[in-house]
Amino acid sequence: MPRQLAAILICLSVLFSLSAASGAMAQSSVSPQTSTVDSNPAVSKLDDILRRQQGLKSSDETIRPNEIGDPANAKPINSQLGTLGGVSDADFWRAFRFGEADISTQARVPAATTLIQDGGMWWLDFRRGPLQTIAIYLLGGTLLALAVFYLIRGRIRIDGEKTGRTLLRFSAFERFGHWMLASSFILLGLTGLISLFGRKVIIPAFGHEAFSFVAIVSKWVHNNVSWAFMIALIFVFVVWVVHNIPDRTDLRWLLKGGGLFGGGHPPAKKFNAGQKLIFWAVILLGGSISLSGLSLLFPFEFNLFGHTFSLLNGWGVSGWFGMADLPYPLAPQEEMQYAQLWHALVSLTLTAIIFAHIYLGSIGMEGAFDAMGKGEVEEQWAREHHSIWAEEVAGPKTTVRKEP
Ligand code: HEM
Repeated sequence: MPRQLAAILICLSVLFSLSAASGAMAQSSVSPQTSTVDSNPAVSKLDDILRRQQGLKSSDETIRPNEIGDPANAKPINSQLGTLGGVSDADFWRAFRFGEADISTQARVPAATTLIQDGGMWWLDFRRGPLQTIAIYLLGGTLLALAVFYLIRGRIRIDGEKTGRTLLRFSAFERFGHWMLASSFILLGLTGLISLFGRKVIIPAFGHEAFSFVAIVSKWVHNNVSWAFMIALIFVFVVWVVHNIPDRTDLRWLLKGGGLFGGGHPPAKKFNAGQKLIFWAVILLGGSISLSGLSLLFPFEFNLFGHTFSLLNGWGVSGWFGMADLPYPLAPQEEMQYAQLWHALVSLTLTAIIFAHIYLGSIGMEGAFDAMGKGEVEEQWAREHHSIWAEEVAGPKTTVRKEP
């Protein structure tokens, strides 16, 4: 009987200490930033995990990297932990976490060398929060600005009298390149936005199954249509680059604000300075989107960011802005995280620019759409917006004399 009583007492004390420990864990999960290192290892581990998830330094970051076992302290083979060579399981996992473990895996893919990458939390948080906010302000702000511009300026009309004659502005070949670029970009933009906002918008409105279907289709379309975009980008670059080399007429055009707010249209060649800016934005930002996209399409194959960061650090670029060096070297997973963020931010910037382009190429300017729709433009439109080009292709303006 005394032995049974002792057993009951032991059980009760174990239960009591367990409930005390779980109470302490619950408390530390409420406010991980404020808690200090606890003597209870379970508490400090949870605290540590929660702080790392928030991108904060863990409270005992200075001690733990050293607690990774020491083969020199190996226990004899006949005692507990003997076969581990002085390293316990906890020591092993800590060594993994701090990148100190000498590991080898059967997998031979590049990312297999990193078993734990706790830095992924800041990326996930940024993608779920600030990135979406930036997207809303940038795209929403641009649409709003265009609506205000339309209300103030109205549609840009052809000022003079229409001639009834047309000039060939873009061949079928050029228009094919433009529409391939435009349609692929629009599809990529839509499917990209679905992958960024789908969880927040589609799941609450239509449920998980609908989102799953839309997400799978979107990803497929996005991955495959990207090739059409890249081919069209090269096509458009080759066909139009000669007309987009900056010259002195562009400076005059810019100084006059393109005549957008009155004062007449400044002279321009085939493309005016505004269009040249659009062209180079499409080529440079589109090129950068393509490169980061390729790095996402073939994960861990093209490591763009580690090399770039080390170059920038070498030149001391972050020092010019009073900032610390950029992180280097990067884990393969970090490369992917930077590629994803860059891809999204540059795509959002180009989309905002393209909103303005689509506005001016359609409802914003009378006669502009015909250039890409039919390929031919009203001669008067050409003389007003591209006077130098119009004179080159149609000769000087002839005034039609009225019969007396
Ligand atoms: C429905 C959407 C679009 C419309 C209505 C449209 C319309 C036009 C028009 C009318 C022009 C010729 C302007 C002129 O005659 O001077 C043009 C040119 C051009 N478009 Fe588009 N476009 C659209 C989408 C896009 C997209 C998505 C891109 C690129 C991602 C793009 C890139 C270009 C470039 C590089 C040029 C030549 C430079 C310039 O005129 O700015 N377009 N577009």
